[in-house]
Amino acid sequence: MMCGVKIDGSVLVVTGASSGIGEAIARLAYARGARLVLAARRAALLSSVAALLPGAVAVPTDVTSASDVAALVRRAVEKFGRIDVLVNNAGQGLHLPVIDVDLDDVRAVFELNVLAPLALMKAVVPVMRSGGGGAIVNVSSGSTRRVVPGVGPYAATKSALNTLTEVARAELAPDNIAVSLVVPGITKTAFHDVLRAGSADVAHAPKCTPEEVAEAVLAVIESGQAEIVVSPVHR
Ligand SMILES: NC(=O)c1ccc[n+]([C@@H]2O[C@H](COP(=O)([O-])OP(=O)(O)OC[C@H]3O[C@@H](n4cnc5c(N)ncnc54)[C@H](OP(=O)(O)O)[C@@H]3O)[C@@H](O)[C@H]2O)c1
Repeated sequence: MMCGVKIDGSVLVVTGASSGIGEAIARLAYARGARLVLAARRAALLSSVAALLPGAVAVPTDVTSASDVAALVRRAVEKFGRIDVLVNNAGQGLHLPVIDVDLDDVRAVFELNVLAPLALMKAVVPVMRSGGGGAIVNVSSGSTRRVVPGVGPYAATKSALNTLTEVARAELAPDNIAVSLVVPGITKTAFHDVLRAGSADVAHAPKCTPEEVAEAVLAVIESGQAEIVVSPVHR
């Protein structure tokens, strides 16, 4: 059985912390005693999130930039001396039928949803190894668990992330690093308003709250379990 990481006192890096699920993770982890490093591109928004969480460090970051990822990890280590938890939450949707999609959009979303989390895992694992272990949570999507017409290219990015997560989990277990997935259903955030391309009418769909997803993220960090699926409930 894989061990998790106690949130209280941990150094926790979360991407996509400027809004939605990432912001909810930051607030909840702060309330439970984490020392936070917040990453996203919109510096002003990120600073306003950090301003409410005294001690949190905001590092404006484009996770698809290799130099930004290196600078993020460097800043976390300079500030706190270690990294215990990485939450790969930054992501974007692309909601078009498979045959209508523009391949440049697919490439961009693969960069963000797959290659960026991989780059971040590569960057933090040496730091976690030298600290004796850690936890990595990758935020996936319920669209990888059922066939949803119109989200194929997006679901493909998250399916790739699922596989990377499962294999990394096996590979990093000897280092005491628990790699886990959180698999949210449709969640009440700006996500569907800022799709890379296409559209989705989710106005009347049942939705998770960002706080419910954040609770699941903190739960997998503490338990080290392989995954939690968060399903929307009718309210
Ligand atoms: N909402 C849903 O229905 C739903 C369902 C399943 C899974 N998810 C997943 O949940 C995660 C969070 O999404 P959300 O619902 O909270 O949507 P959101 O409010 O749109 O948040 C997305 C976050 O990703 C950040 N981001 C986007 N591109 C980035 C980049 N290049 N570098 C750094 N940060 C970047 C954004 O910040 P900046 O713009 O400031 O960079 C923002 O903070 C995503 O991985 C998404 O795929 C969402």
